[in-house]
Amino acid sequence: MADQDVVFRVKRYRPESGAKPTYQEYRIPYRDDMVVLDGLNYIKDHVDPTLAYRWSCRMGICGSCGANVNGQPRLTCGTYVRDVHRGAVTVDPLANFPILKDLVVDFDDFLTKLSSVTPYIVREDWGDLTKEYTQFPEDVEAYRQQSLCINCMLCYAACPVFGASPAFVGPAASALALRYIRDTRDEGADERLARLNTKSGVWECTFVGECSVVCPKDVDPAGALQTLKVLATMRHMRRLLMPKSASR
Ligand code: FES
Repeated sequence: MADQDVVFRVKRYRPESGAKPTYQEYRIPYRDDMVVLDGLNYIKDHVDPTLAYRWSCRMGICGSCGANVNGQPRLTCGTYVRDVHRGAVTVDPLANFPILKDLVVDFDDFLTKLSSVTPYIVREDWGDLTKEYTQFPEDVEAYRQQSLCINCMLCYAACPVFGASPAFVGPAASALALRYIRDTRDEGADERLARLNTKSGVWECTFVGECSVVCPKDVDPAGALQTLKVLATMRHMRRLLMPKSASR
């Protein structure tokens, strides 16, 4: 039994209506073990079925439940109300993305950027597919951190550079590019670094570092971006100084 209430202030917006976004307040029962997603689900199930937001796994895996909670990008399924409750819990859609409806934002631009860095193992010749491409623990350790990315987009919502320059490839796509560059089975590093060695690539990053601060999986996209700057520079120098056949 709830022994007190909590107020949720939730951003409501229907772009097609022409009306400006507004906040709607909901007073709902409080539980000490409730996360922000529980509050949104209570509102949807018991108070206002018109509220739109995303979620799926409820366990920090799918990456779909991101929102700005009291001004910070967070996974709503992993954020306890008791940790953010200051009079009211204010929930906004993730910043820096177009809003489709209420808390639902449009990720299409990110998906285009992600596909531009080929976020999968690239090989010219897969050879004998009946044999194993062995990965030793030290091989996996080289990209383990970046492989934890769940594409939740909190890093893009926290990045002032992406906010000011939407063409920037951004933190998560860069971290995932590094994940595959470091994979000993991959041969796609040259193409990825060519894409990232551009104005809208890694050089747009000014190392603010907020992407790494808000990441719920302890990936370090800011560190990945700086590593990619080094790798892109080394690739560029190799291509300048060495014959083409030896510069890959
Ligand atoms: Fe899947 Fe939150 S619901 S990460």
